[in-house]
Amino acid sequence: MSHARLSAAAGAISERTGRDRHRLGVVLGSGLGTYADSLEGAVSIPYAEIPHFPTPAVEGHAGRLVSALVGGQPVLVAAGRVHAYEGWDLGDVVFGVRTLAMSGCRTVLLTNAAGGIGDGLAPGDLVTIRDHINLTGRNPLIGPNDERLGPRFPDLSDVYRSSLRKVIADVTHSLDMTYHEGVYAWMIGPSYETPAEVSMARQLGAALVGMSTVPEAIALAHMGVGVAGISLVTNLAAGLASAPLSHDEVTEVAQKAQTRFTALLDALLPRLAADGG
Ligand code: HPA
Repeated sequence: MSHARLSAAAGAISERTGRDRHRLGVVLGSGLGTYADSLEGAVSIPYAEIPHFPTPAVEGHAGRLVSALVGGQPVLVAAGRVHAYEGWDLGDVVFGVRTLAMSGCRTVLLTNAAGGIGDGLAPGDLVTIRDHINLTGRNPLIGPNDERLGPRFPDLSDVYRSSLRKVIADVTHSLDMTYHEGVYAWMIGPSYETPAEVSMARQLGAALVGMSTVPEAIALAHMGVGVAGISLVTNLAAGLASAPLSHDEVTEVAQKAQTRFTALLDALLPRLAADGG
């Protein structure tokens, strides 16, 4: 992970947006990407035009970074991410969030689509991530450490900051929505889990299972950035639902949940941009 590459990417973002520093970063997960279009003063930059930025392969969603003002504060929204299961090196997987941090963001909200494992969770639920379990054996910090980014052995005891979770809980309640919180288990994918793997993750205390977010959260914690995480449950994980899993089901549920998700982000982002960091 080269510091020079991150500086070049962050420099290009300030140049293109005319905003020197951004305060809050947001990563939008599968099926949630359209949120960025609704923001005030939005300046959109395709990932392909940012030096060294990895570009997702998903058709029609090449990925873009949107700079906008939320509650008067500059915010960077990354619509589209790259995943380890596409074959990317983890350094590339976390390049985007590291660039958000280099652009000044002291808080980053990571969102994703996930399978629900926890009792009482149903498709469409929004769940705040309390903590994670890394079931992949992989870590974006493997390799030489760059002390300019963070320490060799970073502490992960409050990655998904309790202060930020409290803000999400307050905002959720103010919208009369149900607040759920749980542990996210990272599986490498791209196959969905087996019922036995889901049963294992459940016994380990996970409420959610998914194929993203954790490497980004680790890289941000390494840089001292506060992470907030929200999963949209798009399906019950394998073995808990009656039908086989399909990606179409995941995107369909994500689309249906769009209105509630947008309402939550509209209320939450000004709070995170003002309070966070
Ligand atoms: N498993 C892993 N990742 C996912 C799932 C799932 O059930 N649903 C959405 N992303």
